[in-house]
Amino acid sequence: MKYDFDKIINRRGTSSLKWSVAQDELPMWVADMDFAAAKPIYDAMKKRLEHGVFGYAVVDDEWYDAVQSWWGRRHGFAPKKEWMLFSEGVVPAISSFVRAFAAPGEGVVLQTPVYNCFIGCVLDNGRKIVENPLRYEGGAYSVDFEDLERKLARDDVKLMIVCNPHNPTGNIWDRDTLARIGSLAKKHGVTVISDEIHCDITRPGFKYTPFAAASEECLLNSVTCCAPSKAFNIAGIQTSVAIVADEALRNKVRAALNADHVASPNVFAIPAAIAAFNEGEEWLDGFCEYVFEGRDYCVARLKRELPEIKLVEADATYLLWLDCSAVTDDATDLQKFLRKETGLYLQEGEAYGKQGKKFLRVNIACPKSVIKDGMNRLIAGTKKYIAR
Ligand SMILES: Cc1ncc(COP(=O)(O)O)c(C=O)c1O
Repeated sequence: MKYDFDKIINRRGTSSLKWSVAQDELPMWVADMDFAAAKPIYDAMKKRLEHGVFGYAVVDDEWYDAVQSWWGRRHGFAPKKEWMLFSEGVVPAISSFVRAFAAPGEGVVLQTPVYNCFIGCVLDNGRKIVENPLRYEGGAYSVDFEDLERKLARDDVKLMIVCNPHNPTGNIWDRDTLARIGSLAKKHGVTVISDEIHCDITRPGFKYTPFAAASEECLLNSVTCCAPSKAFNIAGIQTSVAIVADEALRNKVRAALNADHVASPNVFAIPAAIAAFNEGEEWLDGFCEYVFEGRDYCVARLKRELPEIKLVEADATYLLWLDCSAVTDDATDLQKFLRKETGLYLQEGEAYGKQGKKFLRVNIACPKSVIKDGMNRLIAGTKKYIAR
């Protein structure tokens, strides 16, 4: 492999959100990677940096080509160029759309447990969360469609946010599930935002289905939010895209992004995204291979050494979703204990809604030696927790 994912890069002292922790702590919580970005991305940014003039930027034609080509090549869904709108990030875009599509006090359907910023985007904007809790049976997640229809049918619900693949569970929704969500949403006049930021991080050989590709109803009644930032580890560059096929919907989306002034790229956002999509494939394939080897390692170790904790099976994201229900009813308590006793800093599942209360989320996008250290701390710390 051309890229060395085993290399340890010290991120302390780089204003990193993840690594602003005490010296003996090991952060495996927020979703970014400890790997250097692919060389073509670095080169594109270096070239831009060395130009030395950093005035306002625009979205070049090449960006539209790169996005279209990437989704066509990797996901069998090539959006038309006029469907694409640049935004500074998926979360800023979703926050805008919450304001544009739901009036104050109205409801937004979320499939909990779900990415905590969805919860923030709804509540911080004074809208209401209408939960469609995911079913968790036999260690697997699925959609409760009866409940979903009841929620979508409510007069005060105008918007639903889907997470595909799903954070924190790592679930890839199949085409039928997506098409059924799309059909119910259409029937009840609810617009769907599909956040697909994790779509490129899949187990080798596994594919996800873009929501917009699941059916014509899905295509014409949705806004897809995606980005190279998660898969290529350039979250700090702030670069994303909203894809909207329907013209009227797109006009509303464009107006929302413009009103909130989140549609202007910084000088690195466009060259970094173009380099990722046009030249990052080899790096990404190597990364996916590496991270799923890491995942299998964790599965094996937990099975062998800590069977009380069950890792929810998943084929997307670099996040482990640990079912700690055999150990505690309150995984936040375990999370605090692990941090205090071992320095391992995980994300408490409760951040993703009350359905996450017995879960912990672990970010394994780091060198295997670090994963090993994390597993050592998790296993030793949890055993100590059980033995208290
Ligand atoms: C589902 C999901 N959406 C969006 C984001 C963040 O997007 P951005 O950095 O583009 O705002 C994350 C980051 O973890 C995420 O997991």
